Amino acid sequence: MPTVNSVRRNDGEDPVTMLTAYDAPTAEVVDEAGVDVILVGDSVGNAKLGYDTTLPVTVDEIASTTGAVARATEDAVVVADMPFLSFGADEAESVQNAGRMLKEEDADAVKLECGPHTVDLTRKLTDLGIPVMAHLGLTPQHVNQLGGYFRQGTDQDAAQKMLDLARQHEDAGAFSLVLEHVPANVAADITDAIDIPTIGIGAGPDTDGQVLVVSDVLGLSERSPPFSKQFGDLKGEMEDAVGDYVDAVESGEFPADEHSHVEDDVDDLY
Ligand code: KIV
Ligand code: NA
Repeated sequence: MPTVNSVRRNDGEDPVTMLTAYDAPTAEVVDEAGVDVILVGDSVGNAKLGYDTTLPVTVDEIASTTGAVARATEDAVVVADMPFLSFGADEAESVQNAGRMLKEEDADAVKLECGPHTVDLTRKLTDLGIPVMAHLGLTPQHVNQLGGYFRQGTDQDAAQKMLDLARQHEDAGAFSLVLEHVPANVAADITDAIDIPTIGIGAGPDTDGQVLVVSDVLGLSERSPPFSKQFGDLKGEMEDAVGDYVDAVESGEFPADEHSHVEDDVDDLY
């Protein structure tokens, strides 16, 4: 069974598999498939809540989503993604918000979009018993700073700064590091330079693990980034099922006899 410590020890031989989930039934499928880490991403903002960016996502939204995912997960490590401005400004408030995910929602760890402002916080949370997954490269909570969702670490100076931050977060106690939308060679260099596993998204094949947004994998997303891969067509299946339902009601085909005289108790459903 994967744990924060087994993830920390992963050297890429048997890659870390990570997917997001935002609800109990999806978490159950992801967990039963043997995924090591389930991320309750702030991508819930785009994937489920109808926001254009992750910025409006609240601590309450991540908390209730984390609770749903954790209740349905038996084996995987559950990581709650700390939303924009819920951490990094005031230390006590950051600890409170991150601690809530473990104390009240049964997460195993939190993820922070990192920068120079999260090094001390990573140490503080780790010391308190809140494991931290770091995240460098494209950090979508900085979209207004970055001017868009651009690849990061594309020149030597930026790549060096990313490597320095990776080392600092490892030293501060982070148990793993997400690298998003960075050149494959930069991700490979960082992977070589640190002992904790790197988990890539749009970061090439040489990280110690991979993560994708589950809605992109399932084919449920309105838009998905070019570095993701669609492995299913859930949206197509939903369109078919809902269309068939509408047709069946309109034609009088549903409800049929067997749905119309149900005398059995349905108590055992609840
Ligand atoms: O919110 C999210 O889904 C993420 C992953 C893309 C790493 O942060
Ligand atoms: Na995120």
